[in-house]
Parts: sequence; C-alpha cells; structure tokens
Amino acid sequence: MNTPSPPTAEPPPTVRELLAFYLEAGVDCALLDEPPNRLLDPEIVPPPAAVPSPSANRPAPAPVTMARAPAPAAPAPDVAIASAREAARTAPTLEALRTLLETFDGCALKQTATRLVFADGNPQARIMFVGEAPGRDEDLEGIPFIGRSGKLLDRMIGAVGLDRTTAYITNVIPWRPPGNRDPSPQETQICLPFIKRQIELVDPDVLVCLGKPSSQAVLELKDGIMRTRGRWHNYDTGTRTIRAMATFHPAYLLRQPIHKRLAWQDLRAISKALNAAASAPAT
Ligand code: URA
Repeated sequence: MNTPSPPTAEPPPTVRELLAFYLEAGVDCALLDEPPNRLLDPEIVPPPAAVPSPSANRPAPAPVTMARAPAPAAPAPDVAIASAREAARTAPTLEALRTLLETFDGCALKQTATRLVFADGNPQARIMFVGEAPGRDEDLEGIPFIGRSGKLLDRMIGAVGLDRTTAYITNVIPWRPPGNRDPSPQETQICLPFIKRQIELVDPDVLVCLGKPSSQAVLELKDGIMRTRGRWHNYDTGTRTIRAMATFHPAYLLRQPIHKRLAWQDLRAISKALNAAASAPAT
C-alpha cells in the first residue's frame, strides 16, 4: 500500500511575485520609508502583564493605556475649507495659486502624494478641461492626464484640432489619493476653492468637466454622467458666465468604448461653441 507523501511546503514568493501581488491589490505606493512592525508598537500591543508573586503585597500595576501618540494636527475640515477659500481668493495669478497650493497644508492628500499636480497646457487657451484627481503616472510626473486615460484625452481633443498648446488641462483635486481611491467629499470641498479660482484666472470661453465627480463638484450637477453629458450649462465665475459642458471621463471610455460615439458628439458641440466664441465680436 502506498503511504501518502507529506505535503511539500510552497516555496516563498519572490520579491517580483510579491510586488505583482501588491500592485494587483491596489497597493502601489509606500506611505513611509521603512515598513513599521506593528507587532512591536507598544501603543498597539501592550507588553505582557507581569505575573504577580503571591507573597508580594505590592499595589496593582497601573493599567496599560492604549492611547496613540497624537497624529500630526490636521485642521478640522471646516477650518481647512475656510482657509482654502481665504487663500485661493487672494491668488492674483496662476503662478501664485500654484505656490499657494505648494504651501497649503489643509488637505491630507498632500501627505501621501508624491507631488502637486497643478495643470498642463496653455493658460491662455480658450478651452479648459477639468478631470477628477491625478493617478499614479501623474503623481510621479506632476503633470495631469499623462497616463493611459491622458493618452486617450489627447486623441479625443486632437480629433477636434486641439492639443496641449491650445487647451488647458487640470483636475479638481491636485494631489493623488492613495491607491487611486475616490477623493472624500471633504477632500473635494477643501480643494474646490482652488479649482474655482483656477477657472476664474484662466477664464476660458468653454469649460469641459470630464466625468461625474468633476461635473458634480464644479457644475454642481447631481445626476450621473449619462444624463448630464452633452448639455450646456452656465458656469458663473462671479465676473463672467462661461459655457460649460460635462462629458465622459477618458478612463470611463477606456472601460466602455461603446460610449466613444457619444463623446464624439460632445466634442463636436464643444468645438462648434469654441469656434463661435472665437468669431464673436469682443465685448
Ligand atoms: N484621471 C484624472 O481625472 N486626472 C488625471 O490627471 C489622470 C487621470
């Protein structure tokens, strides 16, 4: 009779396999330089309680407190929103706005992002595109829309004769959310005064919001992109009304290429509006 052989232990994964596993699980950025050993953290794992000797008549040891060291003070969201409003309002130029964002500490996303992703393209452009937030490629380079969805955006705007010398491209959120998670409503509210001021300073003739999060934040549209896309809205900067449209985010089109046909309709309407604005007499 054959005796079953003992199970053989699996070889430990290689570094390459581990990294591939992390990437697939969405872990694609390090938050600290060194991995913390949580099992050695006395604030999480209390030391084993001393065994009292029966003869000792000592007072009971003080209970181990589990309190964590205070986290670096992040301002309360309403304080951060108020200070973002105040700061953004005072920026007289795009350069000043970028500098302000470099020193603004009210949004926790800045702590985990590699760098600020401010904008790309021509600040004098008559058309401005606003996405949601940078992804990994943008975070590494500091330039919006340069990854896969950015390549598609370039092709989309190229189809109506635009490129980064004739368009201005930015995001509602200028720091990459860790692991590309959705920005929280609070993070969006904190960043909103900055993107509003950016729109005011660029002052385009046509504003295009890419995807639902951008159109919700900037144009305050409540419905999903299927219902809101392709329609004209007014965006009021306080000094001027700008024609604004929501259309599909290129990342969505990469997943749902069937909707490229509708995106093409939107782009043609956008191009027409841009040409009309260019030929309108200056007011
Ligand atoms: N998606 C966005 O919304 N913005 C970028 O810059 C890149 C991807």
